[in-house]
Amino acid sequence: MIKVLTLNNISSIGLNKLPRDNYKISSKMSNPDVVLVRSAKMYDMEINDNLKVVGRAGAGVNNIPLDKMSNKGVVVFNAPGANANAVKELVISSMLLASRNICQAWYYVNCLSLDNLKTAIEEGKKKYAGSELPSKTLGIVGLGAIGVKIANAAHALGMNVIGFDPLITIKSAWKLSSGVEQVLSIDELFSRSNFVSFHVPLVENTKNLLNKERIALLPEDATILNFARDGIVNEEALMIALNNGKVKYYVTDFPIDDKKDHDRVIALPHLGASTVEAEDNCAIMVVNQIRDYLENGNITNS
Ligand code: MLT
Repeated sequence: MIKVLTLNNISSIGLNKLPRDNYKISSKMSNPDVVLVRSAKMYDMEINDNLKVVGRAGAGVNNIPLDKMSNKGVVVFNAPGANANAVKELVISSMLLASRNICQAWYYVNCLSLDNLKTAIEEGKKKYAGSELPSKTLGIVGLGAIGVKIANAAHALGMNVIGFDPLITIKSAWKLSSGVEQVLSIDELFSRSNFVSFHVPLVENTKNLLNKERIALLPEDATILNFARDGIVNEEALMIALNNGKVKYYVTDFPIDDKKDHDRVIALPHLGASTVEAEDNCAIMVVNQIRDYLENGNITNS
């Protein structure tokens, strides 16, 4: 029997790809051969000698101590691209939320007591009038599966789309629509973008990628979207830019307490990959890789 420990909820459609006559699955067991994980941090976990594989049902692997795993000969698989559509839909809807001031307008109507409805509607229409996406430029930092999907969708909505990848120097494996421009430097991207969306992992080179100096390059009223990782945007500098009006909105998938009360911060509870479809796709992708490794010795995408 191959023992599979699940550290987070993993889609049952994925788990059902593991035949129960060979695989025993549980969220509590000792000495597993396989660990399946989403966002749970594995840094403090004891690595037993049995462990052969870790499957990350998602793209990012920064919750897994990769050095420790490779020293012990443990193979780590992830699921690049399997949740890209879910993230794309949330990023596109967040740009629409921001450009039409939907969160503030919703709060105004639902949470404030409006004495005179007719006057309130007139005032609300003026106060929350928005702008449209087609005349705007979206800058995408990171041209992997997710970044490219967003670039192509935003281009189809009529936006000008530019992209830059600080990590991949070779041409991305994911195909950009013609008309999406790859710029030569990250500073050029910031200086031209009304919206900037980050889609890179958190590594030494991407920490504080958006800092005080680069915020100064942005056009007035830019919107920043961080659905990648906490730490890529220097939030201290960003809060200053929000308060002095340089940045209009900050949409982040990584809520922390001091952002909660700002009326132009839209913070979400790490929802990017949280759709039924993405959870199924990620689980199926890692389970297939794990079986191919354990049953046939093949290693794909580790
Ligand atoms: C990812 O890196 O793909 C996400 O963090 C997935 C998740 O929410 O588990």
